[in-house]
Amino acid sequence: MTTSTAEQRVVVLDFGAQYGQLIARRVRDLHVYSEIVPCDITAEELKALHPSAIILSGGPASVYADDAPDMDENIFALGVPVLGFCYGEQMMATKLGGHVAHTDAGEYGPATLKRIADSELLAHTPEDGQTVWMSHRDAVDAVPEGFVVTARTENCAIAAYECAERRLYATQFHPEVRHTECGTTILSNFLFEICGLTPNWTMEGIIEEKVSEIRERVGSDRVILALSGGVDSSVTAALVHRAVGDQLTCVFVNHGMLRAGEPESVERVFREEFDMPLVHVHAEERYARLLAGVTDPEKKRRIIGREFWKVFFEEAEKLDGVKYLAQGTIYPDIIESGARKTGGKASTIKSHHNLIPFPEGVHFDLIEPLDHFFKDEVRALGTALGLPDEMVYRQPFPGPGLAIRIIGEITEERLTMLKAADLVVREELDAYNQRLYEETGERNSEHSCWQYFAVLPDIRSVGVMGDERTYGRTIVLRAVESSDAMTADWAKIPYDVLGRISSRVVGEVPGVNRVVYDITPKPPATIEWE
Ligand code: XMP
Repeated sequence: MTTSTAEQRVVVLDFGAQYGQLIARRVRDLHVYSEIVPCDITAEELKALHPSAIILSGGPASVYADDAPDMDENIFALGVPVLGFCYGEQMMATKLGGHVAHTDAGEYGPATLKRIADSELLAHTPEDGQTVWMSHRDAVDAVPEGFVVTARTENCAIAAYECAERRLYATQFHPEVRHTECGTTILSNFLFEICGLTPNWTMEGIIEEKVSEIRERVGSDRVILALSGGVDSSVTAALVHRAVGDQLTCVFVNHGMLRAGEPESVERVFREEFDMPLVHVHAEERYARLLAGVTDPEKKRRIIGREFWKVFFEEAEKLDGVKYLAQGTIYPDIIESGARKTGGKASTIKSHHNLIPFPEGVHFDLIEPLDHFFKDEVRALGTALGLPDEMVYRQPFPGPGLAIRIIGEITEERLTMLKAADLVVREELDAYNQRLYEETGERNSEHSCWQYFAVLPDIRSVGVMGDERTYGRTIVLRAVESSDAMTADWAKIPYDVLGRISSRVVGEVPGVNRVVYDITPKPPATIEWE
């Protein structure tokens, strides 16, 4: 396989925070490499990226708003095929001599598309009656000279237009959303029939390419990696190890705030199955001392974060000749920290890696092989590299770990109690999620739990066990449905599963006499309790 990200590149100009992400993902779903750039990239900068095709995203603004995102119209003269959606469609019209009008009634949601002229873009889709997804107020009311209107809906006279000769195409609707019935066909028409691209962005190809890139860069030098057991650092470790073998050393800092079984699982997978050089730093006591008496959540976070890098660099300095530090930065980390222009202007954005507190006089060059991958692609890579499902599909777990799930002071007794309760929660809800996965074929289906754990609040309550009254601890069950942690709803877990969790926690965890379920969405609550 000769996949190369540089050979074929579909560049998405993003006209509104995050709109481009979905488009890039759809393109990648069709096995073509795609990346996102801010809409104000100049034609020269864009040309330097050698795009095979350009897509203009939608965006939340009106093209008439004072601070409306703009674009360099010379991009249309690069000779590269361009496809615009919604705001991008309106941009194409205004930049090339067409016109956009304010309309009284916006059009939001499903609409029925009718073809009114031959169209390369809409080929292989029904002439009449296909559902498309609309979300706009303004609309193009005059297309640029030389363009043909190819489709309309009841409320939108110009729902798609194109100029096949110049290979410029636009739709008012959103082909990238699943509700647009033939969205995939439309995108495929553009990528494969119009632009003549090849679907070569496959996991095997990607691994091969990344491995040779890493090998070439690292040569005979050594690489170090801070392994947390989370998806991103685990996949980075597996990938870098595939490339340079034992030149990679993973450092696993065990701060003691990890869930039951986690350190063992990291050992088993990386040391035993992958046979990687792994330094397991037992910093549990060191952390326990630092956290003693600390109740403020932000202080807990600060201590854990600061100490983590201290411990890590102490270990790093013990290894000779390390030149590189590999990190599991992924594409959303970069996009969300403000888009970084690839190849264009110097980055004005601080991505989180700039925050690594290198000690005085210490420096490693960074290797971030996942920095162009979305989370689901990172998971697919992990699977292709042989990581177990339990690691690849692991739920998110915060860096400060259980420290922010023990409200108030962290003591050994409370940590032990929380770990035991959390294990029960995970066993039951892992099994519940697995049943849903078997039924639906989806990992994150409608009712599955996206993140789930136990919290130990700083309260006691009265209970009765056997003949005795107790004054015991309460465990809070937190389980949410979400896709990105930005918003979340409490999971609608069946009563029998809830009942089993409750009776197991009270029965199996000494000192606990009550279990409550947190039924607050985010917002107003956060997912974590601290
Ligand atoms: P909240 O509680 O803000 O959490 O709704 C959103 C997501 O972020 C995780 N989280 C953290 N992750 N360090 C992390 O690495 C932290 O300090 C931290 N606080 C919250 C949380 O688990 C959820 O997935």
